[in-house]
Amino acid sequence: MISVAGQSGVCCNISGNAGGSKGASATTRVGKGLFMNVYDLNERVAIVTGGAQGIGLAVTKRILASGGRVSIWDRDRVLLEETVKTLAQPNRVQGLAVDIADLAGVEDAAKAAIDRFGRIDILINNAAIVGPNATTWEYPSDAFREVVNVGLIGTFHCCRAVVPHMIAANYGRIVNLSSVAGKEGNPRAPAYSATKAAVIALTKSLGKELAAYNIGVNCVTPAVAKTALAMSQAPDFLAMIVAKIPRGRMLEVEEAASMICWLASAENSFTTGAAFDLSGGRATY
Ligand SMILES: NC(=O)c1ccc[n+]([C@@H]2O[C@H](COP(=O)([O-])OP(=O)(O)OC[C@H]3O[C@@H](n4cnc5c(N)ncnc54)[C@H](O)[C@@H]3O)[C@@H](O)[C@H]2O)c1
Repeated sequence: MISVAGQSGVCCNISGNAGGSKGASATTRVGKGLFMNVYDLNERVAIVTGGAQGIGLAVTKRILASGGRVSIWDRDRVLLEETVKTLAQPNRVQGLAVDIADLAGVEDAAKAAIDRFGRIDILINNAAIVGPNATTWEYPSDAFREVVNVGLIGTFHCCRAVVPHMIAANYGRIVNLSSVAGKEGNPRAPAYSATKAAVIALTKSLGKELAAYNIGVNCVTPAVAKTALAMSQAPDFLAMIVAKIPRGRMLEVEEAASMICWLASAENSFTTGAAFDLSGGRATY
């Protein structure tokens, strides 16, 4: 685990109230004509894994715009450094170069986040990889293991390291990134689909274990959004999964951040162990 420093740059793309909510839930304009509420995450401390780009970065920006502080854990040290600089909120953002597949590194990162911010209120288990597009019988065994190691075992590691702190504080909100692939199963993505189905089951199991505390554990199941992960897929595969979305378009990362940040807020005080759909109508449950 390596700590990265942030300096100057441009803030997030959410206008109004950025970086210091007083707890109001005003509606603000975000990019691409979307209007979104500001959540009350005032002074909450969040960990966002894989927050250097994509959905994790959109979540990070939304948390900052809602008054929270974020420890970003990402294994891409160079990109992480750039992102932390661009966010330009050195008092509210910590960047830690961590591979979530490595339990010792995750435990060190949890300690570093607490040393820096004093506590952990929110855990967004977002980091994952998708792996190659191949049928199950042609899938490289090492690649299958790696997808599971990051997306499932990495999520487990982060929960294992952070949950005891949440139990001690009797407060926490955990949001795991699953995928519609985990509900429906995508052909030529067996490792990813199986990993994301397992993330749903882990969410249900942990949600029940923690239900007696003021700790909510939920997951979201997005359809495809235009990120590095999605764009690494074979073009014909990408076209196939976009064609399955009744909304007729990809998910915007800001739309994912919206649902995730509500699930991460104190207002989500009852629901736990559940999967929240973000599939634009593809999944019907
Ligand atoms: N983008 C989509 O179409 C889509 C759809 C459904 C679900 N999801 C899920 O949303 C989450 C975010 O996806 P995204 O598209 O924003 O991905 P992305 O590839 O844009 O970003 C993921 C980040 O995670 C980091 N990362 C990867 N492995 C890591 C590891 N072992 N330790 C620490 N960091 C690691 C990467 O460096 C990267 O910065 C993932 O869980 C993904 O499965 C994405």
